[in-house]
Amino acid sequence: MSMIKIFSGTANRDLFEKVCDHLNVAPGQMRVEQFPDGESFCRVEEDVRGKDVYVIQPTCRPVNDMLMELLVIIDSLRRASAARITAVVPYFGYARQDRKDEGRVPISAKLCANLLECAGANRVVAIDLHSAQIQGFFDIPLDHLSASPILDRHILELGYNPDDVVVVSPDAGSIKRATKHVASLGGSLAIIDKRRHSGSEVEQAHIIGGPIEGRVALLFDDMISTGGSICGAARVVKEHGASKVIVAATHGVLCGPAIERLQEAPIDQVYLTDTIPLLEEHKIEKIKVVSVAKELADAITCIHENRSISQMLSRLGATGQYF
Ligand code: R5P
Repeated sequence: MSMIKIFSGTANRDLFEKVCDHLNVAPGQMRVEQFPDGESFCRVEEDVRGKDVYVIQPTCRPVNDMLMELLVIIDSLRRASAARITAVVPYFGYARQDRKDEGRVPISAKLCANLLECAGANRVVAIDLHSAQIQGFFDIPLDHLSASPILDRHILELGYNPDDVVVVSPDAGSIKRATKHVASLGGSLAIIDKRRHSGSEVEQAHIIGGPIEGRVALLFDDMISTGGSICGAARVVKEHGASKVIVAATHGVLCGPAIERLQEAPIDQVYLTDTIPLLEEHKIEKIKVVSVAKELADAITCIHENRSISQMLSRLGATGQYF
């Protein structure tokens, strides 16, 4: 590990330190700050010439600042002659803007991929991209990890009998993810018919599949943003007689009315990972955070040692395959 260096911007220092702990590597020394006018700046405070360098930085809130910070960090490492730079982006912001669904709109996810490459990233590690196709936006290797096995492990610890469980996909886009959770956790599958009216308003009423009545409903999603999708889905399954509602999502974007909605929704427990740090005001009793640090550290070790990440990942799955 002597040739490895791990750095981070300001987006998620806790996760960065945990990953360094797992790797038994000292956190890389870097000054990251903003000029009075808001411009991002960084200075690498140690020698990285010829080193295998990793930058851990989710592009979460404030999205544009964290993205720009990541770009200037990569640029400074490249100019400091790092041998290889891997951008470890646990949450890839702008991912939902991944296609033109109306005229004259950007494909911002592709733009962000271009920016990372242009800054000097040689490789990217991401967790649960909003859509798997985003991998194709990069012309450099991208290792796409999933937090699903980690979330499953925590759900399994709750000890529910698979016959009492229904895995619920909160929309058609999450069916594939839900079927993999069924393979891993057992239970039946249900899908909610979701119509989006705006960035924060959705309409859900009908359920396909089931049964729901008397079952523990396990709702999985890639992210909770304003909470509209997951809280609406929770309400629908509760109305259909679910005995309990457990939610598990990889990214706690948690913006706008999310916390208020989660508090009010008929949800017993919410599992989120630490790809995005939880703000103080987000720390409510029903939210439990589980860490992806060990899996990120394992992935970094595989990349550094030129070992297969797929083999490492297949050891992670509870019973199902996620990739
Ligand atoms: C939708 O396609 C995503 O998988 C999430 O369900 C959605 O982005 C969550 O957003 P919100 O919490 O604002 O409903």
